[in-house]
Amino acid sequence: MFAITGITGKVGGETARRLLDAKQQVRAVVRDLNKGASWAERGCEIAVADMSDAESLARAFMGAEGVFVLLPPNFNPTPGFPEVRAMVSALRSALLQAKPGRVVALSTIGAQATQPNLLTQLGIMERGFETLPMPIAFLRAAWFMENSSLDVASARDAGVINSFLQPLEKPVPMVATEDIGRVAAELLQQVWTGRRVVELEGPHRVTPMELGTTFSKVLGRPVNQKAIPRSSWENIFRSQGMTNPEPRMRMLDGFNEGWIEFESGEAGSVKGTIELETVLRFLVQQESK
Ligand SMILES: NC(=O)c1ccc[n+]([C@@H]2O[C@H](COP(=O)([O-])OP(=O)(O)OC[C@H]3O[C@@H](n4cnc5c(N)ncnc54)[C@H](OP(=O)(O)O)[C@@H]3O)[C@@H](O)[C@H]2O)c1
Repeated sequence: MFAITGITGKVGGETARRLLDAKQQVRAVVRDLNKGASWAERGCEIAVADMSDAESLARAFMGAEGVFVLLPPNFNPTPGFPEVRAMVSALRSALLQAKPGRVVALSTIGAQATQPNLLTQLGIMERGFETLPMPIAFLRAAWFMENSSLDVASARDAGVINSFLQPLEKPVPMVATEDIGRVAAELLQQVWTGRRVVELEGPHRVTPMELGTTFSKVLGRPVNQKAIPRSSWENIFRSQGMTNPEPRMRMLDGFNEGWIEFESGEAGSVKGTIELETVLRFLVQQESK
C-alpha cells in the first residue's frame, strides 16, 4: 500500500491515478474527510492528516510500502521559512515512527541553490529528510507548465501575457504535472537503497515567446508576451496581497539569471513526454467550464 499526500492536488492526484492503474493499493491522505470521498469510491483507504500534525501523519503512513510526500505550496512564506520548517519536522517525526519501506518526496529544480529564494523551502525539506533511515528519492521537478493557468484569462481576453520570466527568448525548464505524477508512481514501485535525486523536465525547454505562440495556436488569436520590468515586481506582488514578496522575486531572478538549474544540468535530467500545447489546451478547456 502506498500513502499519498497532496492527493487532492495536481501531482498527488496523478501519482495516485497511476498507482491505481497499476493495480496498487492507495491510501489517500487528506486533511478533510469529505475531500476523500471520490478516492474512497475508487477503492482507496482514507486517512485524515494535516501536514503540521506528526501524530495524524504517523497514523496515515503506518504500514505503507511507500509514502509520497508533497509540501503544500507557499508563495508568501514568513521570513526564515518557519511554516515549512514546522511541516518538515512533523513529517520527519511521522516517517521515523511509521517507518515506511521508502519515501518519494516532491522537490524542485534548484533545491540545491545556495541563494535564499522561494525554492529554499524545498531545500529545507531535502536537508531535513536526507538523514532518514529508509530509502528516499527527491523528485526535483522543473517549472510546472500548469503555472500558465494564471495566464489563461489574460491571453484569451486581452491577447497579452505578463511575463516575469525574461528575457523572453530564454528557454526555461518546464514539465507537465502528469509527467511528474507518472514518474513519482514509477519511483514508488522501485527498490533502491539510500538517497537518490531524480531531476525531471519536459521534452524540451520553453521560452516565454513559445508560451505566447502556443497560447495563440490554442486560442486561435494573437497572444503577445510582455516582459514586466523588475522594478515593478514588488508593487505588483504586494498589490496581490503578498506581505513577503522577496523570496518569490529572488526565485524569478534565479530562473532569469540561470542560477536556478538542475544539479546535473539539462544533459542529466530525465525528460517527460507531455508537450506544452497539450497542457495549455487542457487549461483553456478547464477555464471555459
Ligand atoms: N509550481 C511549480 O512550478 C513547482 C515546481 C517544482 C515544485 N513545486 C512544488 O510542488 C508542490 C505543489 O504541487 P501541486 O501543484 O500538485 O499542489 P496543489 O495542486 O497546489 O495541491 C496542494 C495539495 O496540498 C494539500 N494541502 C494543502 N495544505 C495542507 C495541509 N496543511 N495539510 C495537508 N495537506 C495540505 C492540498 O489539499 P486541499 O485540497 O485540502 O487543499 C492539496 O492536496 C509544492 O511543494 C511546490 O513547491 C512546484
